[in-house]
Amino acid sequence: MTPPFPLIDGELWAGDCRVADLVTEFGSPLYVYDAGVIESAYRRFDDAFAGVDHLLAYSVKANSNMEILSRLRALGAGADIVSRGELHRCLRAGFPAKDLVFAGVGKTEEEMEEALEAGILAFNVESGEELEALGQVAKRIGTPAPVALRVNPDIVADTPHEYTRTGHGATKFGIPVDRVLELYRWAADQPMLEIRGIDVHIGSQILEPTPYQWALDRVLDLAATLHAEGIDLDFVDLGGGFGVGYEGEEAMSVEELAALVVPKVAETGLRLILEPGRFIVGEAGILVTEVLYVKRSGSKTFVITDSGMTELIRPSHYQGFHRIEPVSPREGAAHEVVDVVGPICETGDFLARDRMLQMPEQGDLLAVHTVGAYGFVMASNYNARTKPAEVVVDGADVTLARRRETLDDLLRGEALADGTIFS
Ligand code: LLP
Repeated sequence: MTPPFPLIDGELWAGDCRVADLVTEFGSPLYVYDAGVIESAYRRFDDAFAGVDHLLAYSVKANSNMEILSRLRALGAGADIVSRGELHRCLRAGFPAKDLVFAGVGKTEEEMEEALEAGILAFNVESGEELEALGQVAKRIGTPAPVALRVNPDIVADTPHEYTRTGHGATKFGIPVDRVLELYRWAADQPMLEIRGIDVHIGSQILEPTPYQWALDRVLDLAATLHAEGIDLDFVDLGGGFGVGYEGEEAMSVEELAALVVPKVAETGLRLILEPGRFIVGEAGILVTEVLYVKRSGSKTFVITDSGMTELIRPSHYQGFHRIEPVSPREGAAHEVVDVVGPICETGDFLARDRMLQMPEQGDLLAVHTVGAYGFVMASNYNARTKPAEVVVDGADVTLARRRETLDDLLRGEALADGTIFS
């Protein structure tokens, strides 16, 4: 398979489009997604797990653009949601509620009610307190709540940053493994709670299948104990976290992962749910940004671009590495070690530090790779910046999936004491 966003004849391409042409049409900065890359990643994942009844519940937080959601729905995906906003997006994108699972440590009663009324597949419940609250909401509206308990398996999975590890005892996520059985027993006695499954999620950007095997063994042990007590489940949800290649390394081998997981789950007769986010969309996106200035300051050279932490926060928030290359490389241009920084008034505002880069000139375009996941969705309006446009390329077809924000968008919803309303 050709790698996503190849350089052909000295030009960067997205599908059958020249990236430079997209910027001429839609401006900079610009998020560009290749629908073909998303579809291949989805199919690769889906095929790997063909040996067991499964649902790929795409993790909407990775990229919740409506065009991308509706394409994933068309491929057969369900979704993992964490807010009423994501519920709304999924329903509007055509996902049937029965293919949605709702995770998160802080669901509000309003969110529980909306999801119950929609008829979602299950709530992945993260505490006894939440379980109780959910039972009460279910009683109030007269609809029993389908639940899975999210187990904190106390496993430390290797991820690039502590902020993306969720499976160990010291995080806020999940129910401690030694409390899980008593909560299932309690739930089994509640008429307004329907036990459906068991859930675990150990972290994000994991490249090795083994920690999933540990987590699976833990939850299947619990499922077996529950079964022996007459509490039967429909599904086991192994969460998400399957890593991609930020620095040119191989993405998680979902085939190896499936070889470990499929036989064990198939033996139990349970349905398998997986919640991939980054694996599906991560490599399918670039952020194109224009070089505003090249500034030499003491021993350092700064390439100042029109994007920074407001467009892509991963470098400054998680020390995330994103490959950067010119959209139209200049033949014979020198390479130098530079910091690629944004215009935001923060020292932590950078896209790359101490990076060897072909020296760009003012007005050149750079492509920041592997930003399809946790890129635009984490963008902000800090410094009163307008969020960039997003385009989806499918071969030669281009969809402006989100127009660039306008200055009026920035004020919308605000009001003054004198009654002025900005709309
Ligand atoms: N399921 C649950 C319960 C999750 O918490 C997450 C991610 C996923 C699935 C999807 O994980 P994925 O397959 O995309 O790794 N903003 C961070 C990542 C935060 C992940 C949060 N939870 C980053 O940019 O690396």
